[in-house]
Amino acid sequence: MTHEIAVIPGDGIGQEVTPAAVEVLEAIDAVDFDFVEGEAGDAVKAETGEALPEETRELAADADATLFGAAGETAADVILPLRQVVGSFANVRPARSYPGLDAVQPDTDIVFIRENTEGVYKGIESEISDGVTTCTRVITEDASEKIAEYGFSYAKQNGYDDVTIAHKANVMRTTDGLFLDAASAVGEDRDASYDTALMDALAMHLVMNPQDYGVVICPNLAGDMLSDLAAGLVGGLGLLPSANIGEENALFEPVHGSAPDIAGEGIANPSAMILSAAMLLDHLGYDEQGDAVRTAVESVLDSGPRTPDLGGDASTEDVTAAVIEEL
Ligand code: NAI
Ligand code: MG
Repeated sequence: MTHEIAVIPGDGIGQEVTPAAVEVLEAIDAVDFDFVEGEAGDAVKAETGEALPEETRELAADADATLFGAAGETAADVILPLRQVVGSFANVRPARSYPGLDAVQPDTDIVFIRENTEGVYKGIESEISDGVTTCTRVITEDASEKIAEYGFSYAKQNGYDDVTIAHKANVMRTTDGLFLDAASAVGEDRDASYDTALMDALAMHLVMNPQDYGVVICPNLAGDMLSDLAAGLVGGLGLLPSANIGEENALFEPVHGSAPDIAGEGIANPSAMILSAAMLLDHLGYDEQGDAVRTAVESVLDSGPRTPDLGGDASTEDVTAAVIEEL
């Protein structure tokens, strides 16, 4: 069976790390892929006026899964609609520390399960008068239940004992009150053990005691911020993959952006993008191959060539070649 994968490199280092992930997937003999490339981001907007052309949208809608690199200034115009195109309700963001790396917290293994459709990212903002603006935060029972169902199932399937529901229901009583009640009800229904945590205090605990956490179920904005915070604990954005999971479709992307400060130099760390490809393999049911890619990346991070963000002087290509060699 051949899987059609939409490949959208985007801007900046997206153009450098996306081909690296494709090379790694091509090196997996057990699985056949058909890669179809689409354009999105600042460069195509400058050319055509559209950050996410209709062809690219259709490509992602029709493919079995999508690999997305990063966009620049147009990121919100690309990734938010793309997440909608694939019907993604859950954003899965693992933050793991790897042996041999000089991480702030070397004993971290946390997976953020971020609600991916609502909250303040619904995009309902207005300027109600000169100098006065508002943003409407949308929280629904359905979406809150759905993300909690996904989070509790993920914890069970992947062997995480600690589940934490992040919220700020003491201040956002109505919206996060609903999120907290709906998510807690899912935990109760399943007779699962879980904790709840105020998201601001949680940020501090994550920095000081990350080993106390496993799966963290979050409203949209909290999940965005807490997962970037955890990226800092384990060695930086160059290491963090993510998955946007829908009922039938899914999109895989590194947590990082287009990194204009290093774009074009060929020194971007491809690990986050390659680990995103490993999540794509899991999603398509190739768990063994997904694990093999993760093990190869881990081994290269431990004792192989490293890009400058990790203190080395290797290129994106050197690291990619080393991962393929390990495979
Ligand atoms: P960024 O993630 O692009 O870069 C932050 C810092 O991390 C930079 O110093 C960069 O060099 C470094 N970095 C990131 N990924 C790296 C990698 N793979 N290897 C080595 N170093 C890496 O975030 P920033 O600077 O806030 O945003 C830059 C642009 O990216 C903006 O235009 C922003 O809109 C866009 N962006 C796009 C996202 C997306 O497409 N999903 C997500 C975040 C930002
Ligand atoms: Mg972010």
